[in-house]
Amino acid sequence: MKFFIDTANLDQIKEAQDLGVLDGVTTNPSLMAKEGITGKENIINHYKKICEIVTGDISAEVISTDYDGILKEGQELAKLHDQIIVKVPMIKDGVKAIKYFSDNGIKTNCTLVFSAGQALLAAKAGATYVSPFIGRLDDISTDGLNLIAEIRLIYDNYGFDTQILAASVRHTMHVIDCAKIGADVMTGPLSSIEGLLRHPLTDIGLEKFLADYKKGN
Ligand code: G3P
Repeated sequence: MKFFIDTANLDQIKEAQDLGVLDGVTTNPSLMAKEGITGKENIINHYKKICEIVTGDISAEVISTDYDGILKEGQELAKLHDQIIVKVPMIKDGVKAIKYFSDNGIKTNCTLVFSAGQALLAAKAGATYVSPFIGRLDDISTDGLNLIAEIRLIYDNYGFDTQILAASVRHTMHVIDCAKIGADVMTGPLSSIEGLLRHPLTDIGLEKFLADYKKGN
């Protein structure tokens, strides 16, 4: 299972990278704005900075919603670095663009996916990753993890290569449940990764080991 961090915060990206378990980064316009990164040039420069920190795949989202605009923007983003994955929304022109990118060797992440049908379409178009937003489904009383399970079943039925990137992961249990279901990737905040570390019995056990060591010295 790949671990991506879902942020544009460079300190947090560095921290996750230093932990040694990071496989990539996902960003979106909201996450960029949260860090105060606005305007095309600043956003492009920020992607370049992220590429310097991380060795894995970095999703960079297009803003255009028409086919020609998505192609132009996606091609520009892909040229920035070979780690860039062009993130395209699940809309009609987006699906057409994903097909074009897939036929022309540009990797894509189909974003804003909320149903199994959308995920099937993304795979048919040749998306490298599909991003079902599980937290946002949970927010509206719909089981986000069930969507991951449905997509896993469908992709396995037909051997689709598209990787399931569980997105809108909010906490550590989402990560564990996605791993059980077989999501290829999860993207979440640093806290969702660091939460995996914690167990009170680890802390109590370590404290005792260190205390016992001191007794003998
Ligand atoms: O990966 C998608 C993500 O950025 C959305 O997360 O928490 O805003 O639903 P959230």
